[in-house]
Amino acid sequence: AAMTSGAARERLDMNAYREELEARLGKSREMMRVVLNKAKSNPKRVALAEGEDEKMIRAAYQMQEEGIAEPILVGETTTILRKAEELGLDFDPTIANPRDGEWDHYVDRLYELRQRKGVTNSEAEELVRRDSNYFASVMVEVGDADAMLTGLTHHYPSALRPPLQIIGTADDADYAAGVYMMTFKNRVVFCADTTVNLDPDEEVLAEITKHTADLARQFNVEPRAALLSYSNFGSVTNEGTRKPRDAAALLQDDPEVDFPVDGEMQADTALVEDILEGTYDFAELDGPANVLVFPNLEAGNIGYKLLQRLGGAEAIGPMLVGMDKPVHVLQRGDEVKDIVNLAATAVVDAQEE
Ligand code: ACO
Repeated sequence: AAMTSGAARERLDMNAYREELEARLGKSREMMRVVLNKAKSNPKRVALAEGEDEKMIRAAYQMQEEGIAEPILVGETTTILRKAEELGLDFDPTIANPRDGEWDHYVDRLYELRQRKGVTNSEAEELVRRDSNYFASVMVEVGDADAMLTGLTHHYPSALRPPLQIIGTADDADYAAGVYMMTFKNRVVFCADTTVNLDPDEEVLAEITKHTADLARQFNVEPRAALLSYSNFGSVTNEGTRKPRDAAALLQDDPEVDFPVDGEMQADTALVEDILEGTYDFAELDGPANVLVFPNLEAGNIGYKLLQRLGGAEAIGPMLVGMDKPVHVLQRGDEVKDIVNLAATAVVDAQEE
């Protein structure tokens, strides 16, 4: 009997798990549908720096078929066409081959941008012809593409550096940051910074918060932001808790900020309405936070991965915010659906340019 009830319990657990999974996937599809539909209304040109990669080719096919984006595969033409055929994809991709053709104006542009950063003319030539992250970055910078995706086959920092150097940050930004949108059954949170800034000070934290709030709005989510810490509103005072506290104060004093924001606070204070309303009813947040800004990269990167692996959230990202043009650096091992999702968010971003 014990065996039966154990098995029955397991079945119940499995059913509950399946239901939860369905709901979570439903939420994440619902969030992405907003973006995919916006993208399809006016698809933009997205340069895929790793155009010879099979996942990129499959993603390009899907983007083109579904009208989400106009992909440009960067890489050797014969290689890309051969792989597309091997994959059984019947399409006529747009290809930009850095080793072949007239890219002198790209070399000139890269040289112009980097000559006072130690790059010689022949090095510029080498970077454009041999490093597709530089090629794609210049392509976007000169306006031959509207957005760029890379990262599948590179270490994150080395894929990120060329776009930081060539495209740079937007006029209203000094720092780029990586945001993950995490979807749960009935909830969505945007986590930042999860990938770029090692040890942000209060100015950087404030900037990251603003850009992440803007991103939330692209998904039709009204932002409520929390600057996270291990301290609640001065319960511990030191340099580590000061930065998120000062960042919250900077944002509250900023006339441009039109969303509720507060901190520093612990993660459960940010997320549990009873704590917020009970103990900290003076806080500016009128509901649980959906923009979670972590105090440093360790916390942010570890935090979102815990949500994903233990909390069972669906993760969409990392979406790079603060850049002058839409650029997303994928993680190694990301899947075709991740590439397509990030391409769609890049297209929506580009529509607003
Ligand atoms: N925002 C915007 N631009 C930046 C930033 C930033 N946070 N940091 C550096 N830059 C710019 C610099 O101004 C510089 O521009 P310039 O050459 O025109 O003057 C350019 O980027 C390159 O700067 P460097 O100093 O050469 O680059 P650095 O060695 O600082 O690298 C990087 C920058 C790659 C962002 C670095 O800070 C880094 O490695 N961050 C952590 C990345 C990481 O490991 N993430 C965790 C893993 S991600 C994952 O989960 C897979």
